[in-house]
Amino acid sequence: ATGDHVPALVIGSGYGGAVAALRLTRAGIDTHVVEMGQSWTTPGSDGLIFNSMLKPDGRSFWFRTKTDQPVGYFSGGSVNKSIASYAGVLDSEAFAATRVYQGRGVGGGSLVNGGMAVTPKRSYFEEVLPSVNSDEMYGTYFPRANAALGVNAIDPAWFESTEWYKFARVGRQTANDSGFATTFVPNVYDFAYMKQEAAGQVRKSALAQEVIYGNNAGKRSLDKTYLAAAAATGRLSISPLHTVTAVAPAAGGGYTVEMTQIDTAGAVVARKTVTADRVFFAAGSVGTSKLLVAMKATGRLPDLGDEVGAGWGNNGNVMVGRANHMWDPTGGNQSCIPALGIDDWADAAGPVFAEIAPFPAGTELWISLYLAITKNPNRARFVFDAGTGKVGLNWQAGWTQPSIDAAKRVFDAINKKEGTIYRTDLFGVYKTWGDDFVYHPLGGCVLGRATDGYGRLPGHPGLYVVDGSLVPGSIGVNPFVTITALAERNMAKIIATDL
Ligand code: FDA
Repeated sequence: ATGDHVPALVIGSGYGGAVAALRLTRAGIDTHVVEMGQSWTTPGSDGLIFNSMLKPDGRSFWFRTKTDQPVGYFSGGSVNKSIASYAGVLDSEAFAATRVYQGRGVGGGSLVNGGMAVTPKRSYFEEVLPSVNSDEMYGTYFPRANAALGVNAIDPAWFESTEWYKFARVGRQTANDSGFATTFVPNVYDFAYMKQEAAGQVRKSALAQEVIYGNNAGKRSLDKTYLAAAAATGRLSISPLHTVTAVAPAAGGGYTVEMTQIDTAGAVVARKTVTADRVFFAAGSVGTSKLLVAMKATGRLPDLGDEVGAGWGNNGNVMVGRANHMWDPTGGNQSCIPALGIDDWADAAGPVFAEIAPFPAGTELWISLYLAITKNPNRARFVFDAGTGKVGLNWQAGWTQPSIDAAKRVFDAINKKEGTIYRTDLFGVYKTWGDDFVYHPLGGCVLGRATDGYGRLPGHPGLYVVDGSLVPGSIGVNPFVTITALAERNMAKIIATDL
């Protein structure tokens, strides 16, 4: 409520926010998390909390009247559907030349993501974040993050035999035919549960087209791991459906935090102002960057440095589909949780780590779909527009080209060897590359540039950044394990020295 004072306030409940919440509460500090999305605990009229990908409704998207599926087209037309505007779980946030998909709710991106839990290659981590001690990361913080996230591996024997991963085996075979190596990708989805789904013993989730609009079972999202552990201390409180709109120094020390509470229809219920001794920015790469850029521009935090808002990248994301031959069916039954990646990161001319993604349509389509992570050097900046009062992102359409070029080296080779072609109908009408959206926003408040070496905002004692905005635009693999481990490292330092 307005006038409340809290020792620690965390903005956002994704990976960075969940780590901050656990480590602060375990250190005996009462912590309040403010989250703009819902707490996804109440089932809808169908008895389910989340929707399948085949039957989207209002729950699927954050205030949209039409779905905006990443694979938004098929056979010459849009496959998007009209839905009710509601505080749904997946946001497709539009900027001038890209859309950024993000999770909305208690648990952030963990509610909607594919669960792929990949520790980055050490050499690349050292290249991207040279100021961070990698012995500590690989000896202590990556193992700590993997354990707390509940990362597990698929049983290889089951993988080889189940119809649900035929699509991945076809993706592996066609990659191997052209000399590309593949690797199993660990996950936070409980593979033992998935086996029971396949055996018909439990309710199906990953095997029932559930993932980007949430999983009703099986997934160890942050509400079940870090945030549950933080709640168990008795020191955690969470305000869902509250959006932080301003942070500024408070007269008597600490910071005032302004927020707006909405209902699930989007109507404003209340505006509140509280004070906090310490504020942890964990609103994600986009959320944290937008908030800090706006606070600097509007004079609430005028002394933030020029690096705030800079260094944003899309982790080299680009998607593409291939049409397999009729004799290479990928299966009508596909697990929504990816399990394999093509690892061509060692190709210095254009590193690629491509997840072999499911195309869960419930029917045979012979499609191989990939989300490629590449080493794209382009970086964008968040910019305040005084006219609209909004923060934009100056990413340019052409800046995805290095990612396409790198991915083409892999998939052109596979197509040539197999005698197959790209699907040109999945990302538009005659559009091969899914190059205008991103799953892996990174940067905007880069470690050691916008912040000190541990996420502290210089000149602003008590303000910290703990999320994906610290990672400078690229990490070479799916990012949440890195975001989690880096937050663990920074929180360990902050708790030991600042609190
Ligand atoms: P994150 O976005 O998780 O959390 C930020 C939270 O802050 C959100 O809950 C948001 O609602 C809230 N917030 C924002 N602004 C706010 C404000 N002003 N006030 C209050 N709250 C605010 N990664 C991976 O490693 N493996 C994978 O398989 C995938 N797959 C994948 C699929 C899809 C569809 C998406 C969209 C993303 C992925 N990712 C992924 C990416 C991964 O989910 C992402 O990198 C992390 O969630 C980022 O963690 P953060 O803590 O930085 O922010």
